[in-house]
Amino acid sequence: MTLIENAVAAYTRQFGSAPTAAAVAPGRVEIMGNHTDYNGGFVLPAALDKATAMVGAATGDSAIRIYAADFRREAVFSASNLQRDPHNSWASYVLGVVDQLQQLGVKIGGFQAVIHSDVPGGAGLSSSAALEVATAFFLKQLFPFDLGPMQIARLCQKAENEFVGVPCGILDQFSSVFGIDGGLLFLDCLTLEHSAVKMGRDDIAIVICDSNVKHAHAGGDYTTRRAECMAAAAHFGKQLLREVTWEEFIARENELPENQRKRAKHILTEDERVLLMRDAAKAGDTARMGLLLAEGHASCRDLFENSTPEIDLLVVLASQIPGCIGAKMTGGGWGGCTVNLVYANAVPEFCRSLAARYKERTGNIASVYACRAAQGAHAVPL
Ligand code: GLA
Repeated sequence: MTLIENAVAAYTRQFGSAPTAAAVAPGRVEIMGNHTDYNGGFVLPAALDKATAMVGAATGDSAIRIYAADFRREAVFSASNLQRDPHNSWASYVLGVVDQLQQLGVKIGGFQAVIHSDVPGGAGLSSSAALEVATAFFLKQLFPFDLGPMQIARLCQKAENEFVGVPCGILDQFSSVFGIDGGLLFLDCLTLEHSAVKMGRDDIAIVICDSNVKHAHAGGDYTTRRAECMAAAAHFGKQLLREVTWEEFIARENELPENQRKRAKHILTEDERVLLMRDAAKAGDTARMGLLLAEGHASCRDLFENSTPEIDLLVVLASQIPGCIGAKMTGGGWGGCTVNLVYANAVPEFCRSLAARYKERTGNIASVYACRAAQGAHAVPL
């Protein structure tokens, strides 16, 4: 059964009727552009064939009933008085989107819905953005509103910033909305100009390796990094590190506190790597892609300091396996996943070997699986 079919079956069991609307929104992997988004920089992600489905119907009253099929919990709210439920914090991603739409004057009435997802949670693959974006595409069918795809991505980011309280950039929501089947995405987070990036060869697979070390960056290290970047930019009289040139940085980097100097250097070099990686991917230049992935990881590890020993080990182990083009950490950091680019014919042995070597060295079980770059969020006809 597909994700949607499972969600529909769960809806019928839970609510005793058939849903009238459905939407899916994918998770994402960031190939390059780590923490560049809120600095106004460049990103190069792909949406994945791991997604969140939302199916449901309007009820005509003001009650919002959401059933999370994956952990069998139902939460109930009122559309006329949105209140967070501390026992069901997962529902805040849905409510945050309702809240933003209401702030724009969209009349959101009562509805009941089922959420079902195969995006691993807390792994750095943007299960949160997938839920926000699925909610927006679902609600658009029940309570039509006139927002374009970029406006929806920004609205979902704002929902996470303001309602959930996570100061994320736009990378995740952008990727979930704009995903391209079989392609990467490029976004300039300052101008919001974006394009699809087709890899110059079709024998490259994306392999995700989840260290199964969970992370939570709400309020913690993520916020600290963001503040360090903003402080570094302010030192140069700029709002965003994107606006600081290399000349300016080199002339005055020594005036910065060491942590801010390192964070800024990561961002400045990472922005360059995104552009180089975009070109290397288009040209199918795997040697260069491998080098850039290694540099990107080293920069996260040493300058941005958002990796972990397990993730560092996974990157080293991956690079020793035949058929691996390159590997790096992906997402917010402090655990989660690595992204590996691997020649397609080497994928089964790569996955087996990486998991075995990681287990041998740490005793931990990693989840290693190939993903496809997938289409972005869309409504699904029922
Ligand atoms: C998380 C955030 C994104 C981005 C990445 C790091 O996924 O939600 O906005 O900052 O970390 O690139």
